[in-house]
Amino acid sequence: MQQCRAKGAAPGLKVAVLGAAGGIGQPLSLLLKINPLVATLNLYDVVNTPGVTADLSHTNTSTVVRGFGKEHLDAALEGVDLVIIPAGVPRKPGMTRDDLFNINAGIVRTLCEGIARSCPKAVVNIISNPVNSTVPIAAEVFKKAGIYDPKRLLGVTTLDVVRANTFVAEVIGVDPREVSVPVVGGHAGITILPILSQVNPPFTFTKEETEYLTNRIQNGGTEVVEAKAGAGSATLSMAYAAAKFADANLRALRGETGVVECSFVASEVTELPYFASKVRLGRSGIEEIFPLGPLNDFERKGLEKLKGELRSSIEKGVNFIKGK
Ligand code: NAD
Ligand code: LMR
Repeated sequence: MQQCRAKGAAPGLKVAVLGAAGGIGQPLSLLLKINPLVATLNLYDVVNTPGVTADLSHTNTSTVVRGFGKEHLDAALEGVDLVIIPAGVPRKPGMTRDDLFNINAGIVRTLCEGIARSCPKAVVNIISNPVNSTVPIAAEVFKKAGIYDPKRLLGVTTLDVVRANTFVAEVIGVDPREVSVPVVGGHAGITILPILSQVNPPFTFTKEETEYLTNRIQNGGTEVVEAKAGAGSATLSMAYAAAKFADANLRALRGETGVVECSFVASEVTELPYFASKVRLGRSGIEEIFPLGPLNDFERKGLEKLKGELRSSIEKGVNFIKGK
């Protein structure tokens, strides 16, 4: 283990990033290093953690950065409050997120087995795709280990919300920081369902605007994959989104009230066992899952349309661990 300690580091929350040397992992770790709520930041990857750790440790914030290589997963996770997982392969043009299943399912399983051993009470944020399957995989690993707490397992869908807020702000002509659009369902294609009728500040979109925005939000990931032309998928916007989501989790763990984010979680909001919707975070993870609220016709149709695909992605994840 490589440790780079800043003098005067306050005791506080301990965060681990698994896949910390990757395209998302590096900028995400930088954003966590400058978050005052993070006292200790453990960086785990199967390659390149010494370099990333040395580099980050030169930033003059009080967060202690520690690097862990392939053989030291358990040490990286010891005593951690929040684990963030961006480990795994990204898409290339022409691929779906489900095409990543064969490689990423095993990676998420291994990492979650480590969590079960070393920090069973941690809150876990899953970024690795396909999120619609990797969250159920994590849940099944935790169930097998006897430590599953649905309140502490959250799939990161913040990038869909970040995109929705950005694209909507362009259409209505306001600062994107002032826009809030709930995005529900899952995190792949048509399973990503923006609820534009609930936008804040309130705005009535035309049919054309609704179709354009829904399509752009659902295909935001593909837009980036195609623009990167084989060099991966969203990393910078994803690191921004993951850091924003992590900050919300950390503020709630620290006792802040009224922290609400969209996330893909075990849910009873629909008949599906997992679903993304607004959740209220607290000292021990999810405290409340909000119902979807009023939907218009377009959104109701979108909701019915996504259920088949989302159900089969969830079942694929569950069956991967149950061995069916
Ligand atoms: P990347 O290839 O740049 O980085 C992945 C990192 O994971 C690499 O450093 C690699 O060494 C590491 N890794 C591989 N196996 C590992 C293991 N067993 N343990 C620890 N680390 C391991 O990829 P990226 O662009 O950072 O994307 C990572 C994942 O995030 C992909 O699956 C991608 O599809 C997903 N993603 C999700 C969202 C979302 O909104 N949830 C957004 C963007 C990307
Ligand atoms: C995204 O939405 O950008 C990520 O899920 C990565 C991808 O493959 O699109």
